[in-house]
Amino acid sequence: MPPSPAPNPAYGTLTTAGKSTNIVWHHSTVTRSARAHQRGHRSAILWFTGLSGSGKSTLANAVNSALFEQGLACYVLDGDNIRHGLCKDLGFSDADREENIRRIGEVARLFLDAGVVVLTAFVSPFKADRDRVRALVGDGDFVEIFCDAGLEVCEQRDTKGLYAKARAGEIKDFTGISSPYEAPEQPELRVDTGTRTLEDCVSEVLAELQARGILTQENA
Ligand code: ADX
Repeated sequence: MPPSPAPNPAYGTLTTAGKSTNIVWHHSTVTRSARAHQRGHRSAILWFTGLSGSGKSTLANAVNSALFEQGLACYVLDGDNIRHGLCKDLGFSDADREENIRRIGEVARLFLDAGVVVLTAFVSPFKADRDRVRALVGDGDFVEIFCDAGLEVCEQRDTKGLYAKARAGEIKDFTGISSPYEAPEQPELRVDTGTRTLEDCVSEVLAELQARGILTQENA
């Protein structure tokens, strides 16, 4: 019998994940900390959550621009956009939203490993789904930012005309109207996107990132 090949140290042991059996984790030779060292900043997941129309995408994009201008590697994952591709097979039932957030959590974790500050803008209405993403990554890697604009404000803005449709019964399971939104109890940051200006909200987020050592004096 030929001798069995020597195990490659880059590989771990055989495992099973969900329906995938006989899979082996391959450790990357370029580590997250090497990337952080080269780029001059650490990576993080900035998880924006809030009602539709609460300003998540607007705030995430404005923060992203500020970080980009300061030379950080950063990227926005936006609910409406991701639902055009990666998650276009999902609707808005509780189960589909759970799967949506699970996928985004996994994608965000890849960005984290790639040394990027990833900003996610999803309604993500269920606490358990958000907490599952938090549990995927290390302490301090998941920064939950609650875009706190009340239903009244969001409905009055109705930027996409969706609240009117939901009230008319033309859209079912609409967050805040016919599907619940579970507000974060202890987010890392609560931003009053209902009454404060965009500029103020951006400053609050940037200050939080400085306090957390994601944005440092050198790159600020
Ligand atoms: S989540 O609940 O699964 O996190 P996601 O952020 O991806 O939602 O998508 C929300 C966006 O889809 C909203 O901003 C809105 O434009 C649109 N949308 C369409 N139908 C619904 C619905 N039933 N509930 C909430 N948002 C909806």
